[in-house]
Amino acid sequence: MNVLVIGSGGREHAIAWKIKQSPLCKDLFCLPGNPGTASFAHNISSSILDFEQIKNIVIDNKIDLVVCGPEEPLVKGIRDYFESTPDLKKVLFVGPGKEGAALEGSKEYAKMFMSRHNIPTASFASFSKNQIGQARSFLSTLDPPYVLKADGLAAGKGVLILDSLEEAYIELESIFSGKFGSAGDKVVIEQFLSGIELSVFILTDGDDYLLLPCAKDYKRIGEGDIGLNTGGMGAVSPVPFVDQTFLNKIKDRIVSPTLKGLRDESIKYKGFIFFGLINCNGDPYVIEYNVRMGDPETEAVIPRIKSDLLQHLIACAEGTISKEKIDISPNNSFTVVCVSDGYPQDYKKGEQIVGENLITPTQFDYPVKIFHCGTKMTDNKLVTNGGRVLAVNASSLQKVYRQIDLIHFNGKYYRKDIGKDLTS
Ligand code: AMP
Ligand code: GLY
Repeated sequence: MNVLVIGSGGREHAIAWKIKQSPLCKDLFCLPGNPGTASFAHNISSSILDFEQIKNIVIDNKIDLVVCGPEEPLVKGIRDYFESTPDLKKVLFVGPGKEGAALEGSKEYAKMFMSRHNIPTASFASFSKNQIGQARSFLSTLDPPYVLKADGLAAGKGVLILDSLEEAYIELESIFSGKFGSAGDKVVIEQFLSGIELSVFILTDGDDYLLLPCAKDYKRIGEGDIGLNTGGMGAVSPVPFVDQTFLNKIKDRIVSPTLKGLRDESIKYKGFIFFGLINCNGDPYVIEYNVRMGDPETEAVIPRIKSDLLQHLIACAEGTISKEKIDISPNNSFTVVCVSDGYPQDYKKGEQIVGENLITPTQFDYPVKIFHCGTKMTDNKLVTNGGRVLAVNASSLQKVYRQIDLIHFNGKYYRKDIGKDLTS
C-alpha cells in the first residue's frame, strides 16, 4: 500500500523509517519530510495545515493510509476533514478527530475529562481572562511551587512552574495579557506533583490497544536537569523503574479508564495516545495527554519495535487492533539530541552539518541511527534548520556519544548525562 506520513521532525523520520521496512509498504511519501526521509521516501512539500492541498496529494499519489505525526493538524480537524470529504472516505487514517484531539488541544478539557472518569491527576481549577481575581485567590490557597498552564496549544511552552506567589501572580497576568496568544485565554492552575516523569504510549482503535515501549524524556536544556524546558534533549527506553506492578497500575488506573471514558462519551479515537505520567511514590498520575507520539521519545521507542508497525497502523485504522501482537526488543535504546547553541531561545539556522553516517539506511538493526529533527538541504549541503537538529540513537550510550563526536556544526550542543540517572 502507499503510505503518507505528515510531519517533518525526528518523530516522523523514525515512524517513516520503520514503515519503510514493512513488506506491506509500496510507496512511501512524507509531507513535507526532511533530508533524512528523502533518502528512502518521496518528500512532498506542503503545509501540514493545508488540508485541501493534502487532499490533492493523497488523491494524486493513490495514498491508502495516512499517519499524522504532529498534534496541530489533528487539533484543527484533519481527520474530520478526511471523513467528511467523499474522495477521501476510503483512505485509512491514523490520528484522532477534533473531539479526541482536544485531550491535547485544551488542558482544561483534558483535566475535566480526567475528573469525570476518575483518572488520577493533580487537583486543579481553571479560570478565564475575566476571572483574574478568583485565580489569584485560588493561588493564594496553594503551597509553592505553583503550576500555571495556558489552556491551548503553546508549542510546548505553555506550562510555568513558579517558586513564589509574587512570580505566580505576575505570570498569571502575563498569560492573560497574551504571552501565549489566545492559548492563554484560559489558565489551568494545578497542584504541584513531585516524582519521576515517564512517557507511556499506546496505539488504539478505540476498543483495544497495543502498549508501545515506554520512555523517559529529558526536558531541560542543562545537564542535571537544570535550565529552561525544551521539546526534549534525549530519551531512553525501557525505563528501569517501570516494573510489571507499576505497569499494571498504569493500565488499570489510566489507560483503560481513558479508553472507556472516550467510548462512554461517544468519542471515536483511532491513533496514538501519549500519557505524560509522573510516578509519585509508586502511584502513576497523569500530567498531560498528547494525541500523538512524543519527540524525541519516538526516536528511542521505534527502534525497539520488532513487529511490523505498518501492519499495526493498518489494524488501528481498520479497527482490528485486538488481533495484533506487538513484539518489543528487550534491548536498551538511547537517544541524544544535538541542538543549536541558544536553543530553546534564539539560535542560528543554516550552519553546515558535516560528518559521518548522517543518512541512516532503512535497516532495522543498523547499529547507530540518526533521525533528522531540524535540517534542510541548501545548495547540496546539509544545514541546520531548527533548534533540535539531529537525534542520535543506539543501544548503548557509548555508541551514541561516539557518533555525536563524528558530527560537526557550528554551535552544536548536547547533554552528556542522558540516561545516566537510570544506568548508574
Ligand atoms: P507539559 O507541557 O504539560 O508537558 O508540562 C511541562 C512540564 O511541566 C512537565 O513535563 C512537568 O515536568 C511539569 N509539570 C506539569 N504539570 C505539573 C504538575 N502538576 N506538577 C509538577 N510538574 C508539572
Ligand atoms: N517529548 C515531549 C513531547 O513530545 O511532548
